Amino acid sequence: MSEDIEKTIRELHIYEKILLKELEANPGERPSKIASNAGIDVKSVMSAAGSLASKDIIEMRKDVEKVYSLTKDGLEYAEKGLPERRILNALSGKKEIHMKDLASETGIDKKEANIALGWLRRKNWAQIDKGVVKITDVGEDYADKEDVDEKVLDFLKVNENGVKQFNDSLKDGFKKLTGRKNILNIQKETLHFFKILPKGEEILKHGFTIKEQATQLTHEQLKEGTWKSLEYRPYDINAEAPVVFAGKKHPLRVIIDEIREIFLNMGFSEDNGEYVESAFWNFDSLFQPQDHAAREMQDTFYLKNPLTCDLPDDDLVKLTAETHETGADTGSIGWQYDWSEDIARQSVLRTHTTGISTKHLYEHDQPMKMFSVGRVFRRETFDYKHLPEFHQVEGLVCGEGISYQNLLGTLKEFYKKLGFEVRFRPAYFPYTYLSTESEIYLEEKESWIELGGAGMFRPEVLKPLGINQPALAFGMGIERLAMIRYGVEDIRMLYKSDINWLREVPLDKGVRL
Ligand code: DAH
Repeated sequence: MSEDIEKTIRELHIYEKILLKELEANPGERPSKIASNAGIDVKSVMSAAGSLASKDIIEMRKDVEKVYSLTKDGLEYAEKGLPERRILNALSGKKEIHMKDLASETGIDKKEANIALGWLRRKNWAQIDKGVVKITDVGEDYADKEDVDEKVLDFLKVNENGVKQFNDSLKDGFKKLTGRKNILNIQKETLHFFKILPKGEEILKHGFTIKEQATQLTHEQLKEGTWKSLEYRPYDINAEAPVVFAGKKHPLRVIIDEIREIFLNMGFSEDNGEYVESAFWNFDSLFQPQDHAAREMQDTFYLKNPLTCDLPDDDLVKLTAETHETGADTGSIGWQYDWSEDIARQSVLRTHTTGISTKHLYEHDQPMKMFSVGRVFRRETFDYKHLPEFHQVEGLVCGEGISYQNLLGTLKEFYKKLGFEVRFRPAYFPYTYLSTESEIYLEEKESWIELGGAGMFRPEVLKPLGINQPALAFGMGIERLAMIRYGVEDIRMLYKSDINWLREVPLDKGVRL
């Protein structure tokens, strides 16, 4: 314990020591008095007090007090008399004055006259009868007697620095004056009180010397070596420092960039596509029949402007139509319906990033490895799991000999790099065969959760595009991934700009230090 005390004493600033001594000698002394006694400024006293208080050596309390003084008008009234008094003075000789003569008889202006008449009536000093102001008995009585509010005016006039309290004899007058506009000035003054706490008592009992300590060394002190004989105050390197919240990327952005980095390191090139796309690329190119549920208005945003999109080359459109209707030469019988160009022309906000893959296949040479990350749009109602706008990532590999095994291998590698163990289960998508869904293992929940779809593009997708080499493709939602990594239970947190969460969310792989 005494070692602690000695350490605390060694780390005390000279002003802290001075303040403690002052408080010991004059308990309850005000900061300004302490400052003048010690010959330091009040600011230094306050900062020393704050520092002592943070170490539980003293206690700092503050009270806010109101200080009353006279305004400019108030001071004028105090000198010349309140307007009603000035009229009463004139009335006490004449007994009555006609309203129209009020200004000339009393030297009062119109505005003041109104105030004066109001108060004359309220105080019952005068009555107004057919335009004539007549003094009352009460008025006579007050002609040579000060009213309560006038006493307060006098009191404030001699107490120029303001008054905090009025004794009982002045209380009524004070109340009366506060009811009048522009007479009293009210200022708030904060008063600080210091009290030595047990730890402070102990320090004082232990004793210390007050000696100037070096804070900043000068060039001379260093050159001449006098720094060696100076007294230094030790620092507490374990003292708590304020937490600094540095600017950083949004957690979602962190994941997106990480995913991009993984793909780029695996030799994929990036294609981000467009938010507005034709139903042709978003659905038809993926062999999704035109009456497919996902195309319904309640699932997809259709645009008014542009209402339609251009279709690609005639050959591609024709082949796509044929494949949907009969299967063409893909080995299947298609969906057996009349394919409509108008439906394919509709413009939509892309519902997934998979349409980017088919367009990319059509527009680029094989072999290729492509990925895309971006927003997709679906008519979802907001809840803890769903947003109408979210992010997907999509990967595509096309080339000679690409197989389902490559797909599983690529996914394993991809998830491993994100820090997850993955397993696969069979799935169905209109555009892939074989198809699978990836599940990752969540330690905290001790369960597997589904993260994305994948598969080998069907001949019905590849053939119309003129692709003769196999292609694997996979896609997944990014918000889901972010929720898992950052332990977020409600997807909306990712878009709320909740400053506390943003400050605290760790930027590494979710490992809290
Ligand atoms: N497009 C699918 C979705 O939005 C995900 C998906 C499934 C992407 C299979 C693919 C795939 O590339 O092959 O849920």
